[in-house]
Amino acid sequence: MNIIDSPGTGQTQQERFEKTRTLIFPDSNFACRELAAEVAELIRTRKEKGKNVVMGLATGSTPVPFYRELIRLHNEEGLDFRNVITFNLDEYYGLTADHPESYNRFMRDQLFDHVNIPNEQINIPDGTVALDEVYGSCIDYEGRIQEAGGLDLQILGIGRTGHIGFNEPGSAEDSKTRMITLDRVTRQDAAADFMGVANVPRSAITMGVGTILDAKRLVLMAWGENKAEIVREAVEGEVTDRISASFLQTHDNATFLVDTAAASKLTRRHHPWLVGSVKWDEQTTKRAVIWLSQKLDTPLLKLVDEDYNENGVGELLVSQNRQAYHVNIDVFNQVQQTISGWPGGKQGTEGENRPGRAQPFPKKVLILSPEPHDAFVGMGGTIERLVEQGHDVKIAFQTSGNLRVGDTAAQQFANVVLEMAETGLGGDWEKQVGYAQSILDQLEAKGEFGIDPEDVRKLKGLVLRGEGREAGRNAGLTPEQMVFLDLPFYDAGRYRRFALKESDTVRMFEMLQSWKPHQIYATGNVADPSSLQALSFNAFTAAMERCADEEWRSDCRVWLYRGSDQAAMEIHEIGMAVPMSPDQIAIKCDAVRKFQSIGSAENEAAGSIQQTATLYDDLGMAEYEAIEAFHLQDA
Ligand code: F6R
Repeated sequence: MNIIDSPGTGQTQQERFEKTRTLIFPDSNFACRELAAEVAELIRTRKEKGKNVVMGLATGSTPVPFYRELIRLHNEEGLDFRNVITFNLDEYYGLTADHPESYNRFMRDQLFDHVNIPNEQINIPDGTVALDEVYGSCIDYEGRIQEAGGLDLQILGIGRTGHIGFNEPGSAEDSKTRMITLDRVTRQDAAADFMGVANVPRSAITMGVGTILDAKRLVLMAWGENKAEIVREAVEGEVTDRISASFLQTHDNATFLVDTAAASKLTRRHHPWLVGSVKWDEQTTKRAVIWLSQKLDTPLLKLVDEDYNENGVGELLVSQNRQAYHVNIDVFNQVQQTISGWPGGKQGTEGENRPGRAQPFPKKVLILSPEPHDAFVGMGGTIERLVEQGHDVKIAFQTSGNLRVGDTAAQQFANVVLEMAETGLGGDWEKQVGYAQSILDQLEAKGEFGIDPEDVRKLKGLVLRGEGREAGRNAGLTPEQMVFLDLPFYDAGRYRRFALKESDTVRMFEMLQSWKPHQIYATGNVADPSSLQALSFNAFTAAMERCADEEWRSDCRVWLYRGSDQAAMEIHEIGMAVPMSPDQIAIKCDAVRKFQSIGSAENEAAGSIQQTATLYDDLGMAEYEAIEAFHLQDA
């Protein structure tokens, strides 16, 4: 088993804060292989006895790698699904089975079309029943589960509200299949799939918490740092209807499978000194002292021996045979040294303890932005600094981002072309009119939620490209400094369903080889593995591996940042903190505002960097308006 710090059976000292069994894996693929093997075993043993397996299934990003592994087992190892009966957790209300975002469609795309579960054994709540028939159809769904013999194994994901299925906060422990109003956060999280939050359905039909808890076994999966906080609350917090996943604590056969990013807030990972002995190296010491300072809301330099002793960090002082005063100063200096207004390094400061090395100068810098706005949201101020300080900066937009662009932007463009032709600006407009008209026709034909045809995606990508150029210009970049990579995985896929291809790695590799940068900024390392950021990051790391023997590679450092929709970096992770003044924030927000066609991410642009500055201030550092944070990737 590829489980990190858990023997997998019983509870260790380290896990004592965890009230539901939790297994931590290096990444989602390891976890999904383990789970798929368990499922395969169940299917085979039941088959030998002539019995069925009743499986409860989930949709969303989380189970995607699990379904891929089941499909692989079917194709390569002949796993036979004929004795499997499935029940899906939920469905959006109002969406037909063919709607591209319906869970019915999702399940066919992701699993059912690729394995041999008989059609009549597949059950998904019907999102199209008339309102006055919803109640009856929910009773019927419950009845069908009973008739099948009850759920043997229910697969679950977890929403940021803590929901399982669509059991939003307030769902009772004994609730059954029913219609529910979706939480604001849940709708926000689905906004990209539906091209804007306004298009996300307001309600859904979901199995109840009670329906789920009746299953013989429950497995909840969670990947990526955005899930870390809610996983901690569900596993370590009290059982409450505010977080329906916390009800798993009451089940005698429930397991959480998480990757290291989703586990990062669990006590045993986040503050392990509370659950056992730790090795007090420099990094752990720094983490513990920052944690202590934040817990007690006391600046680093004001912590005293009693604070350490009374909060479970006394061992640190004993093992290092030092007093709080000295440890505080050490950690204070370490945090202090992360602050630098010179992200590319400052000439003449060789030998000084700064995050950005002084030489070579100027540096060739490569900034990777998974979608065009990511880099501006995550590090817009730093981009401007790098340019201003004379570095040779290139920004590479890894994907076009066209899926984020609403239809209105494409319509507007087509309409302007038609208007121009109408006003007779000279020349022959026949071709352009034909093009504009065909865009409008295709938009009309696909409807509000339909999948964009290739031409429309292309046009939307170009609209965003223009906005990306504007944002770049705002940060001081010339057109030659902006590269549009258009990684192929993006244009062949949709959110939550992307799959990386060799051609993606090749394109990244060619980019790296042609530029041979000294410094790279990238993001997506702790994102949900099915997300576009994670895939863009994987394409980058795969390409970097191919460059392992290149001379430039050994002289190149990679800084990780947090892009759009990602949780802020924790203070102990920050290796470089680039401070910003209010004026610089205004410039950054201006750049982010250029991305009009995807709805402004302006609030996001200022929010988390201001929060980071406050956290630095609380530790007793200088008070800045905002701080952009970076983590140095291990060499
Ligand atoms: C899906 C479902 C939801 C999701 C949850 C997480 O059928 O019931 O509870 O599991 O919203 O979604 P993702 O996996 O997309 O993060």
